[in-house]
Amino acid sequence: MSEEPPHEAEDVQPDGGAATDDVALDPWGSSAVDDYRNLFEQFGIEEFDGIFPDVADPHYLMRRGVIFGHRDYGPVARAMREGEPFAALSGFMPTGDPHIGHKLVFDELIWHQEQGGDTYGLIADLEAHSARGMSWAEIDEHARDYLLSLLALGFDPEEGELYRQSENHDLQDLAFELGSEVNFSEMAAIYGFEGETSVSHMQSVVTQMADILYPQLEEPKPTVIPVGPDQDPHVRLARDLAARTRYFGVTEAYASFEADPGERAVLARAYEERGEFAEEPDRPRCVEAADWIAEYDTLADLHDPATIDSTVEKLRAAGKEPLRPRVRFLDRNATEAAFEALIEAVEGEKRVYEAHIDTFELSQGEADELAREVELDHGGYGFRAPSSLYHRFMTGLTGGKMSSSIPASHISLLDDPETGYEKVNSATTGGRETAEKQRELGGKADECPVYELYAYLLAGDDDEFAKEVYDECVGGERLCGGCKEQAAVLMEEFLEEHQEKREEARELLAELDIELDPERV
Ligand code: TRP
Ligand code: SF4
Repeated sequence: MSEEPPHEAEDVQPDGGAATDDVALDPWGSSAVDDYRNLFEQFGIEEFDGIFPDVADPHYLMRRGVIFGHRDYGPVARAMREGEPFAALSGFMPTGDPHIGHKLVFDELIWHQEQGGDTYGLIADLEAHSARGMSWAEIDEHARDYLLSLLALGFDPEEGELYRQSENHDLQDLAFELGSEVNFSEMAAIYGFEGETSVSHMQSVVTQMADILYPQLEEPKPTVIPVGPDQDPHVRLARDLAARTRYFGVTEAYASFEADPGERAVLARAYEERGEFAEEPDRPRCVEAADWIAEYDTLADLHDPATIDSTVEKLRAAGKEPLRPRVRFLDRNATEAAFEALIEAVEGEKRVYEAHIDTFELSQGEADELAREVELDHGGYGFRAPSSLYHRFMTGLTGGKMSSSIPASHISLLDDPETGYEKVNSATTGGRETAEKQRELGGKADECPVYELYAYLLAGDDDEFAKEVYDECVGGERLCGGCKEQAAVLMEEFLEEHQEKREEARELLAELDIELDPERV
């Protein structure tokens, strides 16, 4: 590796050429989100509220809505409740000082570790070098700072694992394998990559895919990736890749032919309504279902016409074959030996086809487990789809977005305590123009960066305190001067204590097997 940042095309954009207007969530672009609702509607991120009751002892960031969304967190919450293995992993690009926005993710990792998860924190140095053009000297310095803060906040490196992408060979081997499942066109569609995008930048993407699946290398387990929503494209691709590497797919099916998910939904509906059209209700024939679907208008409202047509066509071709629910194993990437072994392993009534096996006595859950077992026995990864948690981005202290390039907008974990005090004291607020108005109308805590500081950090686990600040503010009992002063003092104390702990963590860091002063040539 050279000391110089890699060169991309001359007219390269500051973010490494990744941003295009049609990529709405851009990992290398702006990390501001205008409308969180849009994330649910447009991208299918799930609302955290929906899963909140399933979390046994939720973190304060969950209780206060700072963690607002997730993908498929259910399996992680379940494993946590039931004392089953699970993992948490996140990564940090060492492009500047760690700041209070990063602290959210540090805290999330540490909390999952305290809940019993195998927890990983990584330094995305390959990404910082290839996508952000950071030199190795800068990267080494910042890497140390991220790790010290993570340790100071309570990450236990004996229970968990810290690594640098560039030093982890198992990770890079996995990245190489995953790279054969994704091509340039797909990356272009997801990230807006263009002809000028460097190969190293693309390599940093497969490296991140490997990061996300790395906790499962020894054993598949539910894994959560706590990140900002700008990382969602990575999470989606990793979930896809986890599925693509699997030996077998497991789906429901209703007849011997193959059907896509849309067609399957139509078939499920027809099967449910078999009493309406089948001469013998316990042997509904495919062709009878075809005639019924073709005529039944309600289905046309629920499913798109092309899907209905193709389903009808397949049913007609199957003729008198009875519709009968079953669980199907599809051969995706299995070796011949693994496919044979699966056939052996399926108990009860089964039918074996060229590239799938239909079983009539297994539930989908049982089939899933069996498929994974056989895959693992035959050298596959057996990955589970990784889950994610999304936190809100903090508002900048100067209003607008919090940005590492505007020092006054954020508080670095390395800021002098007095500087922290000053920054909070000079922050914009959600207060009214005059004290009278504030007493009369109350402050706008929901639009106040200072209130955010309380909720995201300063109130810590003390919900009552956070609520008190909020209620007093909107009730007009709290005025901004005193409120900021209180927050500034708390921030000063936090930074003082954090930096003491960072000093203590130096020894711990030195003992870890992480190279931070490499001699590069
Ligand atoms: N891309 C992330 C960032 O921009 C860093 C990162 C690398 C990461 N690998 C990861 C985050 C794995 C979560 C999981 O900061
Ligand atoms: Fe913000 Fe405090 Fe002023 Fe309310 S009183 S607007 S929370 S600074």
